[in-house]
Amino acid sequence: MNTEKITTHSFEETENVGFKLASELKLGSTVLLLGNLGAGKTVFSRGFARGIGITEQVSSPTYTIVQEYDIPSGGRLYHLDLYRISGVESALAFGVDEFIDDPEAIRLIEWPMRIEGILPSDCIKVAIEHVDDTTREITIER
Ligand SMILES: Nc1ncnc2c1ncn2[C@@H]1O[C@H](COP(=O)(O)OP(=O)(O)OP(=O)(O)O)[C@@H](O)[C@H]1O
Ligand SMILES: [Mg+2]
Repeated sequence: MNTEKITTHSFEETENVGFKLASELKLGSTVLLLGNLGAGKTVFSRGFARGIGITEQVSSPTYTIVQEYDIPSGGRLYHLDLYRISGVESALAFGVDEFIDDPEAIRLIEWPMRIEGILPSDCIKVAIEHVDDTTREITIER
């Protein structure tokens, strides 16, 4: 396992970390986004989406649970926010397995521990820690 630590000093820098990771991943990958409310998971996701060529506006899936985007070079990006999902049972009732199992997709999952039992085994973990107003420590494990 490889661990990388990056400190960012603005939301733009966090977007850039997402952008760079996206350019290294293949279809079938799953990225778990860990960190408290307001850590920067959605900011990271916005940069990530740009990094795989998505030009549409990327909005937070807090209320919709999932946002789906077509990747210009093929496949789909699923951006999930499971904050409002209580556990595996309600996630499956929502139909989360359709998004988890799609081999032609890349997944970004905010609040993934809600469905810990059904996550793929080979996920990339991105943990974002709030240091102060504008500083975040990002740890990428893969
Ligand atoms: N270095 C930084 N990196 C990322 N975001 C930052 C940074 N500095 C300040 N911010 C601000 O922190 C907030 C991060 O919000 P964001 O919606 O990305 O959080 P989140 O982790 O997705 O929260 P939630 O769990 O509620 O979905 C934004 O308002 C952003 O501008
Ligand atoms: Mg968010």
